[in-house]
Amino acid sequence: MSLVNFSKMFGRVTRQSKLGLNMVQIRKSHMVSVHRDSPEDNPNIPFEFNAANLKLAEEVIAKYPPQYKKGACMPLLDLGQRQLGFTSISVMNYVAKLLDMPPMRVYEVATFYTMYNRKPMGKYNIQVCTTTPCQLCNSDSVMEAIMDHLQVQPGETTKDNLFTLQEVECLGACVNAPMIAINDDFYEDLTADKTVAILKAFQNGETPKAGPVSGRDTCEPSSGPKTLLGDEPVDIKKFTRSDL
Ligand code: FES
Repeated sequence: MSLVNFSKMFGRVTRQSKLGLNMVQIRKSHMVSVHRDSPEDNPNIPFEFNAANLKLAEEVIAKYPPQYKKGACMPLLDLGQRQLGFTSISVMNYVAKLLDMPPMRVYEVATFYTMYNRKPMGKYNIQVCTTTPCQLCNSDSVMEAIMDHLQVQPGETTKDNLFTLQEVECLGACVNAPMIAINDDFYEDLTADKTVAILKAFQNGETPKAGPVSGRDTCEPSSGPKTLLGDEPVDIKKFTRSDL
């Protein structure tokens, strides 16, 4: 298969190089987790949980035997990220101290899992799934609609700090492909137009209803229900022993 056909099939953008070769233009994926001290992320910025999160953290830690309290590392990093908006080095150091862990062990966790955002984020974190099932249902058109509408590339935040765009791997909603996550909510069965409508709603201060935008309920067959079509569900007692 030629590179042109390959890129057409997989929806990637090609461009002509100076040598006349067709090159696949690589999109930036999610943000790379490399720490460099910056004004908004350096170890001198103090961080600690607020009272509500400290109480939650104590509840999480209490679920683990004292010698294994480092098991609470992931939920505590998540709490820190929700409080601050991203997983800063101060958040990681604070969690390490709280759990008596070497800071490096916490850095390893926070930089391995893409759910931890190591850079300041927009108010809405848009994650566009482009893994195979979503890609086959035209997730590239969804991605391009978002980039066009917000004028950002994956890994970037809009100038008004409202949206950060990320390209991610499967988010586990393949049956409703193509889909995106915005913060904790999934928007599914998307088209380019419907994606832009969702973004406009957020820009207008609204929170659109999460779930499939196609009208189907959750992940039922897109061509309608196929089972339990009768008026009454089959009464299983008619077919089984009465003493069961
Ligand atoms: S491939 Fe997109 S949610 Fe699984």
